[in-house]
Amino acid sequence: MSSPVRPVAEVIPMLDLRAQYETIALEIRAAVDEVITAQQFVLGPRCEAFEQEIAHTCGVRCGIGVASGTEALELALHASGVGAGDEVIVPAFTFIATGSAITALGARPVFADIEPATFNLDPAQIEMRITPRTRAIVAVHLFGLAADMSPILALAEKHGIPVIEDNAQSIGASYHGRKTGSMGRLGCLSFYPSKNLGAYGDAGMIVTDDDKLATRLRALRNHGQTARYLSTERGWNSRLDELQAAVLQVKLRHLADWTAARQVHARRYDSLLRDLPGLTLPHVPGGQEHVYYLYTIRVAGRVAGNDPGVATRSDLVQKRLAERGIASMVYYPVPLHLQPLYASLGGKPGDLRASERASREVLSIPLYPELTPSQIEHVAEALRGALRD
Ligand SMILES: Cc1ncc(COP(=O)(O)O)c(C=O)c1O
Repeated sequence: MSSPVRPVAEVIPMLDLRAQYETIALEIRAAVDEVITAQQFVLGPRCEAFEQEIAHTCGVRCGIGVASGTEALELALHASGVGAGDEVIVPAFTFIATGSAITALGARPVFADIEPATFNLDPAQIEMRITPRTRAIVAVHLFGLAADMSPILALAEKHGIPVIEDNAQSIGASYHGRKTGSMGRLGCLSFYPSKNLGAYGDAGMIVTDDDKLATRLRALRNHGQTARYLSTERGWNSRLDELQAAVLQVKLRHLADWTAARQVHARRYDSLLRDLPGLTLPHVPGGQEHVYYLYTIRVAGRVAGNDPGVATRSDLVQKRLAERGIASMVYYPVPLHLQPLYASLGGKPGDLRASERASREVLSIPLYPELTPSQIEHVAEALRGALRD
């Protein structure tokens, strides 16, 4: 007698780039083919056109294509005068690249805490950290939502310090009618493959309305050359190549639709998860548009038990979701002030409580444009079960 066949539970990943590719394969292949036929691979017409398109998307005049989001930050900080011994104020709850772009220049990141509701830099935490060595403030727009820029910009102006926006995660988001990336002196984007607008490799861009800075950055990304084989200052080799620009140009044509799909999915999650006890859903302050790079919930509480991988209730929910075939991720489990890399800066537990608490409680669940309504319901149902069991 054959044993009864158990239905295979549907596996839902964090992201499904293959599903996205299937919808644009012909366009991508044609664009890549054109580059290969043209045989111009670095700093060509596609990069230039794409720079204009991204500048337009962000609502500014200039775009400077570079090799990654990390180097966009490094170059933006350098062009803003940050160097050895300087201080840069930055939120502790972010991806490590925001900090490492600062330390790569020999400068010191000064970590500030976040607003618990938005996970973004708390404007009230900035002024007390300003010293005569402060050269910049980096405002990160985390998970697809803008930081509270009005008070940040007001403080920066009061002290004559530039604001650089780390807009790696929030292309297209807006804050009281202004696009992320357009509010500070310079905005930095990442086109890492998993981003809302992702390349087929590494790529990044700096956007600005400051023509002089843009001209300097164009030289800085290319060995400091202001004319062919004439370098006026030390620069980088950090250029956006034509293949990536071609892929990104195709994808940019779909970005508005993909973002709208993310927003519809997020609203569906909001309504399906609204009543679950012990869960905090993403908060969108009035006047803001969230682009949901991630849909990040909070699960409060610790767990007493012997499982070494399960210290918090969020770990436990993640484990239970995995047992049900649902991927989830913790972005980010260790805030920057507690990273071993920055031990020499003297950060210790208890210094930045909102960042530390976020690290213990956050859990991002699958959210990407190609998700179907039934997959969203499946995730929500699994989460309901994971919280109950
Ligand atoms: C907040 C943040 N800053 C900076 C970066 C660095 O971008 P990249 O990976 O393109 O160097 C990323 C993404 O990876 C990021 O999420």
